[in-house]
Amino acid sequence: MAGGRNNSLKVLSMHIVLLGSPGVGKGTQARLISQRYNVPQISTGDLLREALCNSTPLGLKAKKYMGRGELVPDELMIALIEERLNGQGTKDGFILDGFPRTIAQARGLDRILRQMKSPLDLVLEIEATPSIIIRRLEGRRLCQNCGKDYHLVYHPPRENGVCDECGSRLYQRKDDRARTIKNRLRVYRDQTLPLREYYSERGILGTVSGNELPLEVFGNICAILEKIEVAGYRV
Ligand code: AP5
Repeated sequence: MAGGRNNSLKVLSMHIVLLGSPGVGKGTQARLISQRYNVPQISTGDLLREALCNSTPLGLKAKKYMGRGELVPDELMIALIEERLNGQGTKDGFILDGFPRTIAQARGLDRILRQMKSPLDLVLEIEATPSIIIRRLEGRRLCQNCGKDYHLVYHPPRENGVCDECGSRLYQRKDDRARTIKNRLRVYRDQTLPLREYYSERGILGTVSGNELPLEVFGNICAILEKIEVAGYRV
């Protein structure tokens, strides 16, 4: 791995999609990659939750789908990602976390990236066993103020229900309850898994196990990033 864990490396370009089931660790790994390589993490789940929180027209439209663990319609998602990718901070690349999730979204992304002249370097699929995924989702808790992520077993707060960083209350995402988790996993299997073949045929699909501890998974991801030479490094 180039450089120490605390160093962040400036890359010339890095255009990555993280693919994987709900709860597999996309958000956790996207944050680590973003810190290390200095490229923005673009999470469609986070963008939608922010829109929901601010009651924007998009948030109001997305609410019913998210509550049921279903996908928000493709045309809304493609417009959202097009606006974000054409916005600030994406010149040197990005990590897409949670987009695309359907073949139609993948085609939409192809069109946007053609216009930006920024082809994808890698689609990295994170895989984990279903029982691990369910435990991760059921145990996840988030700070209602700063958004910091905890897990009741793997990463508990010092004081039960209270954020270590800012002292605010922790909450459980509505879609992290057992019934909705089941639906999210079904939706993933039916609508998102076909992307594996879509990207594999282009030779840009990589796979990493997400069963291990976060930093171990991250080490394996860094090894893949370096092997495919996604970027020239500028320390
Ligand atoms: P979104 O927020 O993207 O949810 P998701 O894909 O279901 O992903 P999660 O955030 O649940 O899991 P993750 O893989 O990021 O895991 P995390 O790192 O958090 O989407 C929510 C909803 O928005 C969708 O259902 C849909 O309605 C809508 N939506 C979003 N994008 C859309 C799109 N493109 N099209 C249509 N609709 C869209 O980890 C989970 C937990 O495990 C955490 O507690 C974490 O601390 C812990 N953990 C992580 N890694 C490890 C590890 N290695 N070991 C132990 N614990 C770990």
